[in-house]
Amino acid sequence: MTTRELTRKFGNFTAVDSLTINIRPGEIYGFLGPNGSGKTTTIRMLCGILEPTSGSGTVLGHDLAGEPEKIKQKIGYMSQKFSLYDDLTVYENLDFYAGLYSISRRERKERIREMIGMALLTGREKVLAGDLSGGWKQRLALGCAIISRPAMLFLDEPTSGVSPTSRRDFFKIIRRLAESGTTVMVTTHYMDEAERCHRIAFISGGRLIANDTPGNLKKNAIKGCMAEMEIPDPMNRLPELEALPYVRECSVHGAAVHILLDGEKHIRELEKHTGIKARVITPSLEDVFISLARKGRQAQS
Ligand SMILES: Nc1ncnc2c1ncn2[C@@H]1O[C@H](COP(=O)(O)OP(=O)(O)O)[C@@H](O)[C@H]1O
Ligand SMILES: [Mg+2]
Repeated sequence: MTTRELTRKFGNFTAVDSLTINIRPGEIYGFLGPNGSGKTTTIRMLCGILEPTSGSGTVLGHDLAGEPEKIKQKIGYMSQKFSLYDDLTVYENLDFYAGLYSISRRERKERIREMIGMALLTGREKVLAGDLSGGWKQRLALGCAIISRPAMLFLDEPTSGVSPTSRRDFFKIIRRLAESGTTVMVTTHYMDEAERCHRIAFISGGRLIANDTPGNLKKNAIKGCMAEMEIPDPMNRLPELEALPYVRECSVHGAAVHILLDGEKHIRELEKHTGIKARVITPSLEDVFISLARKGRQAQS
């Protein structure tokens, strides 16, 4: 999957701005960015649902502008507001989607059995979808989205609003799908999920800000030295800390504050100023995203 300068405008407003990315077969590609940064708009273009204003792209060898119908047939898509039929059972929902994808009667039973196993729904075949809890619903929606065995799968915030355990189960399934060759593009706000992606793109204001492996982003995206210290009442101390000439940015992480310094030599000054011990840390992916989001906002203003 590749895009070149892919752009979508709504009136005068540019929601996706000259996005150039490529995703390799079998890759889990994380798509991150603040709310309103253009993730859903991008995915809708890539799924052949929304026409690009300019730029180009291919998905599974088909041109976005010229062959959106072919793309729609070949991909799997789970939208932010995926739709299941609450008054149909697990089995009936899968059967319904199998029908939509014109899977032959002969093949259908086998395919539904496969999806039930994949989505960890064994034993729940006769439960109404409306009676399932969040995590189970999400896995059923995934089963419905991939019952046609698509080579590429788009997931738009598939795990928002479900329990941490369900999120982990869901991502295990995604890993397994990728290992068997499915290409996955997934948007998420959860850093633990971002860590599990092979590569991550970060967008802000419709523009690509960073695009690399989680490891490389942590190594390279932040310049300077990250220090951590436990400060009482951290929220109220931020303005004072951020005003220090050698402090680039601060963020609160529970009881700790992460402080980005111009260099390691400023640790001493920081400790002297606050009277609190500081230690150098490797930035977490969350630090990277806080920093990138700030850069994105600055670039737009
Ligand atoms: N159909 C539309 N008409 C007008 N503006 C839209 C439309 N769809 C999305 N937008 C705007 O485009 C921007 C990006 O939206 P979206 O792609 O949904 O962001 P994200 O998924 O990253 O939260 C937002 O400012 C949103 O309001
Ligand atoms: Mg969205």
